[in-house]
Amino acid sequence: PQGQSHVDPSVPPLKPYFDLNGTQDESSQLKEIIKKMGLQPHVEGGYFVETDRDQLRVPNPFVDEKTASSDPTRSASTSIFYLLTPKSPFGAFHRNKGRTVHTLHKGRGRYVLIHADEVAAPNCPGGYGDENLSESRRWNGKKARIETFIVGQNVLAGERLQWIVDGGKYKCSFLLPDEEGSSNSEGLLISETVVPGFEYTDHDFMKSERMDALVTKEQAEEMNWMLRK
Ligand code: GUN
Repeated sequence: PQGQSHVDPSVPPLKPYFDLNGTQDESSQLKEIIKKMGLQPHVEGGYFVETDRDQLRVPNPFVDEKTASSDPTRSASTSIFYLLTPKSPFGAFHRNKGRTVHTLHKGRGRYVLIHADEVAAPNCPGGYGDENLSESRRWNGKKARIETFIVGQNVLAGERLQWIVDGGKYKCSFLLPDEEGSSNSEGLLISETVVPGFEYTDHDFMKSERMDALVTKEQAEEMNWMLRK
């Protein structure tokens, strides 16, 4: 029974395909790939390794009251490999201030974006921007737009090979089986390039109170498992 409050009527209910507690093991080949590539567990879930950090420093475009004193510059860009596996099958809802270009290498997954900054002040400088507005002014009773899409090789079925997530958008991803109907995955491997470069101070996780404020009660219930526990 999918009510109209469901995230998107054209999308199946957002449910994980792999056990979130990591009880499903990775294939020995995936384990070898993780080792060979030097991938480490990511705090969001999944595995990552930073593959590039531009030596060039650029002015920090996110300077505000909070960061101005400590952080005048950023790396011009950073890149990582990011991998989801049956053992670590999802990346919890979070946002970065920087814009991120994602490129698929292999596997399939679903992305869910919450456009929390959709109606932020049009002239707000880089950064989250939206927190300075009161809830009522920001949304006028409306809820944030939710977007979801599948990343994968099946371009003809609408799966994406490349996707861009602007700074300030909440993002979550979870592993899908390599083939529809199967329960196996040899992992979702992507590259991400962030501009300007990644810093933890530009990153934060979605909190359940924030989720409740951004989406309907039903949507929050449906997406609750995507929050970092
Ligand atoms: N360190 C922890 N998370 C990340 C990330 O997402 N990107 C980069 N470049 N470094 C990280």
